[in-house]
Amino acid sequence: MDHVIGYDLARGLHIIAVIAWIAGLLMLPRFYAYITVSQPGGELETAMLKAARSLRMIILTPSLIVAWAFGIFLFGTYLTGDWTRPPGDTLAAVPHWFWLKFLLILGLSGYHGYLSAEGRRIAKGERRRSEKFWRLMGEIPFVVAIAAVLLATLEP
Ligand code: HEM
Repeated sequence: MDHVIGYDLARGLHIIAVIAWIAGLLMLPRFYAYITVSQPGGELETAMLKAARSLRMIILTPSLIVAWAFGIFLFGTYLTGDWTRPPGDTLAAVPHWFWLKFLLILGLSGYHGYLSAEGRRIAKGERRRSEKFWRLMGEIPFVVAIAAVLLATLEP
């Protein structure tokens, strides 16, 4: 892989994007927790609503896209080589641990979508969840990140 972007550069950029993505996912529910306990229309609520929106637009959406883009590029390196192989053999070249990581990242992407949808509801004034709920939700990305990183590095 010695083209415009090599494998190791793609791996580095993938990890950088993943750091930003996970950091954002850890912060966003915390902002929602603050909004939930803040005075309606007050200074804290206004500031946190703005911060949550900026976090989604400036950090979360771009880092999701970049993490997926480089992840798919890296995934492509499992498949390239001999295109004359039957499709079954090509898929068999994908390491088994990757499919578990794939489930985790699909889940994490769904979790991201859920947080975005809830953010739009919160911006409209809906307060359907407790502060405690949002604090607990904020732990999820950390647990998923531990599992995803160890799968990628230990390659069990
Ligand atoms: C967004 C979708 C993602 C896709 C499609 C994807 C796919 C991949 C692929 C194919 C590799 C190359 C693995 C290898 O060395 O054989 C990789 C590397 C890596 N991924 Fe992801 N990944 C994604 C998200 C994540 C997330 C969320 C994390 C952590 C929280 C993560 C952590 C890593 C790490 C640490 C490596 C480097 C492993 C190494 O080279 O030793 N990835 N990813």
